[in-house]
Amino acid sequence: MIKLSPSILSADFGNMARDVNAMHKAGADYAHVDVMDGVFVPNMSMGFPMVKALDQETEIVLDVHLMITEPLRYVERFCDAGADILTIHVEADTEEHTKEALRRIRAKGVKAAISVKPKTPAEAVLPYMDLVDLILVMTVEPGFGGQSFMEDMMPKLRQIRAYIDEMNPSCELEVDGGVNLKTAEICKQNGANVLVAGSAYFGAADREAFAASIKAE
Ligand code: DX5
Ligand code: ZN
Repeated sequence: MIKLSPSILSADFGNMARDVNAMHKAGADYAHVDVMDGVFVPNMSMGFPMVKALDQETEIVLDVHLMITEPLRYVERFCDAGADILTIHVEADTEEHTKEALRRIRAKGVKAAISVKPKTPAEAVLPYMDLVDLILVMTVEPGFGGQSFMEDMMPKLRQIRAYIDEMNPSCELEVDGGVNLKTAEICKQNGANVLVAGSAYFGAADREAFAASIKAE
């Protein structure tokens, strides 16, 4: 099953709960919440209060993508705020701290996930294969919505799909960055099953039709 996780970075921040509830109704499976600290990426976005508010005001699965340094410091607070899936970057801390953060996320009953930036090789996920429920492959440099899809990430996506099939078949494989109806097809062909889309989803004239089309196998 292909899932859609629209990135709320492209939603209307003055009406966030409204937009997220509408997204759920339109067929989105998850709401992708991009958290940025101005250090790991050169931008800032939102944090615990937004996750908590969406947890209270919506029913959708909150797919929280932490683009922050040393996430171990904050993962439990994001779980308590209401994250359902919590993603940390492998580049954001040491292997030991990353493993500890993933264990703490799972201990909270939340799905644990890791992400790799474009320059990080596929092998970087290997130490974490039995600690994750989802792997997120970035198809743009993290930090901003509206960038162009990096098709040269597809060999890496295929390699990680092979690791998942061999070592942790129930793990989901998500792509994030520049995903639209056209690039989504390429991602699906290369093994992704969860598609993040920010500008393409919120820019679609008919969001329900967009969701149906992107989720078609
Ligand atoms: C980028 C974020 C993405 C972004 C995607 O750092 O992680 O989730 O919002 O936006 P689009 O789909 O517009 O590339
Ligand atoms: Zn993201």
